[in-house]
Amino acid sequence: MKICVIGTGYVGLVGAAIFSNWGNEVIGVDIDLEKIKRIKKGHIPIYEPGLSEIVLKNISQGRLSFTTSLSDGIKNAEIVFVCVGTPQSDTGDADLSQVWKVAEEIGKNLTGYKVVVIKSTVPVGTNEKVKKVIRSTLRSNIRFDVVSNPEFLREGYSVEDMENPDRTVIGSDSEKAINLMKKLYKHLGKPIISCDFRSAEMIKYASNAFLASKISFVNEMAQICERSGADIDVVAKGMGLDSRIGPRFLKAGIGYGGSCFPKDVSALYKTSSDQDYDFKLLRGVMEVNQVQKEYFVNKVKRYFGGNLAGKTFGVLGLAFKNNTDDIRDSVAVEVVKDIRGLGACQNVFDPQAMKNAKQLLGDVSIKYCLDKYEALKGADALLILTEWEEFAALDLRKVKKMLKNPVIFDGRILLDRKEVENAGFVYFTVGKRTTGTELLDKRPSGTPGVILKNGS
Ligand code: UDX
Repeated sequence: MKICVIGTGYVGLVGAAIFSNWGNEVIGVDIDLEKIKRIKKGHIPIYEPGLSEIVLKNISQGRLSFTTSLSDGIKNAEIVFVCVGTPQSDTGDADLSQVWKVAEEIGKNLTGYKVVVIKSTVPVGTNEKVKKVIRSTLRSNIRFDVVSNPEFLREGYSVEDMENPDRTVIGSDSEKAINLMKKLYKHLGKPIISCDFRSAEMIKYASNAFLASKISFVNEMAQICERSGADIDVVAKGMGLDSRIGPRFLKAGIGYGGSCFPKDVSALYKTSSDQDYDFKLLRGVMEVNQVQKEYFVNKVKRYFGGNLAGKTFGVLGLAFKNNTDDIRDSVAVEVVKDIRGLGACQNVFDPQAMKNAKQLLGDVSIKYCLDKYEALKGADALLILTEWEEFAALDLRKVKKMLKNPVIFDGRILLDRKEVENAGFVYFTVGKRTTGTELLDKRPSGTPGVILKNGS
């Protein structure tokens, strides 16, 4: 099949690469000339395991090319995928300006029948509007169809997720377009849901909002576990073995971040408000996510007697999760900003996100380190903020030698509490009460609930 992919961000670039890897002839379009030049040379602008090899292979075998010209891109394509960004606007809903602009351009440049597929995450009703926008800009009476085909890939695992999806969602009012899309995905042998536009759009938001709810639920459970002396990891394991619940997305921590969950939860909440419905559960999901981060920062503050001025922390993790260099809406970065705001210095390290973090955070009170142990040298405590596997394998004896005080705040429950405590550390994590601490009182969530017995 001949395919054009508009937008070479995470979704578009991975989509273009994988579609070409399936044997299709694919052309990727982006308005960023420098980016296109770099991709053509094989320099992939994002860290995504396996992607660069697939891009290079398919470029060299002549199935994958790139251009900055939308008209050239769509000229010969049977299917045109729209994969542009839909960031969060100031009012909390999705900013669709890039989608409208691309829809207008497609309309102006259409010369024959094509299926226009919206892969960007867009609120309910958008695909119908896209159809109207394209129609209003057509230069002659050309037929086209629109399809909603939301993407469920996870950053860091997007190649794997595209090759092996749990399901494919195809929403359209055209049988012909649905059949063409089924042809593209049939070889995967995975369930295909074909439905109307609005249901397809809603499936994407519902899925992300549900997963975010699972995380906020387990984070609230972590608060109760910590206060009552239960262990959130054990509780989550016990819950997850119930096949109706499932084990995934039950890891407590400092909250969810990234380019999707925060914006999609907020956009769905806005959609429901616009429909005169107060989505109470989602309001809670967002609030819990905010509190979870503040609670962690307060724990650090409280341990140091409420004053972090003059302290230095060794910080491991800046990306919004492991296996990515992405720091968009990263809770780790938010924590670093909050700790800096309290007057402390930080020596930071992340296996992939250093460059992005430096651009965003700058140099004030932050030292960018070459490896995880350098970040700990002389620090008052270690803060673990992202769930990279390499942080779970820290050499505790080495850590103890590097730190000024043997104190660890593990925001991702990466370390084994017994091992860490046996090695002589004071260990604060999420959803497990720190040995030697006791419950202060039953405060509202968001305020610290534990204090060291010695009063510090
Ligand atoms: C998410 C969806 O999973 C994907 O289907 C959608 O297409 C895009 O949004 P992504 O943003 O790449 O993918 O990250 P994901 O792996 O889902 O993690 C999101 C956030 O939740 C991260 O900050 C992660 O640290 C956090 N998380 C995840 C938890 O705190 N606990 C968990 O159990 C799982």
